[in-house]
Amino acid sequence: MDYKVRPRRLRLHSEKAMFPSKPVPKPPSRSADHGVRLGPLPELLVSFVKQRFGRPLAAHGEAVAAISRNFTSDRNELTPAYLSSPPARAAYLAYYAVTGAATVQAALELAGAWDRLPKDRLRILDLGAGPLSATLGVAAVAGPATRLQITAIDGVRTAMQDGGQVLATLRPDAELTIHAGNLREAKFLHSSAGGEYDLILFANVLNEWSVGGRKTMTPGALVESVLERHLAPGGIALIVEPATRHGSHVVIETREHLATSLGWPILAPCRGAKVCPLATSHKDWCFTERSWTRPPHIVAYDTAMEHDRSTLKFSYLAVQRTEPAASDPKQFRVIGGPMRDAGLLRRYVCGPDGRRVVEVPELQAPPALGSAWRGDILTLNGVAGETNRQGRREPVLQLSDLPPPRPRPPEGRGSFEREGPRPGFESGAPPRNGPRSAPRTGGGPRPSRPKR
Ligand SMILES: C[S@@+](CC[C@H](N)C(=O)[O-])C[C@H]1O[C@@H](n2cnc3c(N)ncnc32)[C@H](O)[C@@H]1O
Repeated sequence: MDYKVRPRRLRLHSEKAMFPSKPVPKPPSRSADHGVRLGPLPELLVSFVKQRFGRPLAAHGEAVAAISRNFTSDRNELTPAYLSSPPARAAYLAYYAVTGAATVQAALELAGAWDRLPKDRLRILDLGAGPLSATLGVAAVAGPATRLQITAIDGVRTAMQDGGQVLATLRPDAELTIHAGNLREAKFLHSSAGGEYDLILFANVLNEWSVGGRKTMTPGALVESVLERHLAPGGIALIVEPATRHGSHVVIETREHLATSLGWPILAPCRGAKVCPLATSHKDWCFTERSWTRPPHIVAYDTAMEHDRSTLKFSYLAVQRTEPAASDPKQFRVIGGPMRDAGLLRRYVCGPDGRRVVEVPELQAPPALGSAWRGDILTLNGVAGETNRQGRREPVLQLSDLPPPRPRPPEGRGSFEREGPRPGFESGAPPRNGPRSAPRTGGGPRPSRPKR
C-alpha cells in the first residue's frame, strides 16, 4: 500500500485567452487576505492540470460545474470514488484544490495555529486527502527551514499522486507517503497513519462519512480514534467543512463529542462555551467568512458557473492537545451577519456562556460591530440579559459605556433605511445537506459589508 512519491518538477504553462497567466508571484505577506497566502500554488496547479491532462483550462469548466452540482445534491448520491476519473481529477485540481488550500490557510490563521506549530519539523497527517489540497495549503505557508513530513490517506490513489507531483514542485524537499484505502477500515487507517503528528487535517471529508457502504462510527468517534492514537502532545487537529447546514452540523457534532463528552480543549472557533448553542437546533448553523484574492482562473470558472466565491465560507474546528487557555469573558466570536432594523444594529456573537445577540442603537454602535467579518473576535463590555429590546426572550448582551449618538446621516445616504429583519443565523431552506459552497446569501440575506 505504501507509495513514495518521486519528486518531478513541472513546467509553468500559460493560457492567455480565458485564463491569463501571471508571473509566479512572491509569497504574499502575512497580513494579506485574512491569512490566505497561496503564493505560486495556483499557477503550479494550473500548470500541472495542463501538462497532465493535456487540455486547456476552459475545457474543464463543465467538469468543475458537475462536481459543484454533486456537492450541492444529496450527499448519498455521491459515488465513493467520484474523484478517480481523469475529468473529475483535473477539475478538482484546477478549482477545489485552490479553494481547499486557501480555506485551510484561513482556518489555521483564525486558530492562531501557525505560531503554535513546530518550525523545525512538521509532521502532517492528511486524511481524505484527495489531491492533497489541505497539505498544499500548509506547504505554501511553511517556511523553507521547516522539514515537511506528510502522510496522506485517501480512497483514490491517483488523486493523491496528482497532488504529490504539485507538492514536489512547490516543496521539492517535502517527504510524502501516501496510502490508498478505506478510512472506515480501522486496521488500515491506524497502521497506515503509523506514529504521531503535529498537524492532523480532515478537510472536506467528514461530511462524506455517510456516503457509500456501512457507516461504522460517527465522525466524532472517527476523529477521537485518530487523535487518541496519532496527535502528538501539543499537536493541532483541524477539521474544515463546507459552510452548509450539513457541513456545519458535522463539525458541531464532532465538537460536542470531543469537547463535551471527552473534555478536549477547543482552540477555535469556540470562545469557551461548554455546549455549542447550535447543537440542538438544525435550523441554525455556524460558518466563517474570510476575504481572499481569487486567482484569475477561479474568477473565470465562477463567472461561467454564476457562482460567488469572492469570499471563502467554511465551517471549522481546531483542537490542540494541550491545556486550554482560559477564555477572556469579554472576547466574543462574531457568528452572524449584521442585522439592521428600526434603528438598531444587532449581531450574534458567541462567548463563554454561548450565543448572545448584541443590540445597539445604530448611531451609537462601535464601528467594528457593523464591519466585523463572521469569524472575527470582538472585545465587548456588556451586561448579559435574557430579553431583547423588542421584549422577546433571547440571550442578549447590552453594551455598556456607549458613546453619545452620532449625527444622523443625510436623508437617503445613511444605513438607516429599514432593511427588514435579517437572520444572523441561516434560516433559509437550501437542499438537504446544502451546497458545498454556501449560497451567495449564506442561507440568509448577505450581510452588508464595507469595501476593504
Ligand atoms: C471532497 S474531497 C476532499 C479532498 C481534500 N481533502 C480537499 O479538501 O480538497 C473528499 C475526499 O475524501 C475521500 N474519502 C471519502 N470517504 C472516504 C473513505 N471512506 N475512505 C477513504 N477516502 C475517503 C474521497 O476519496 C475524497 O478524495
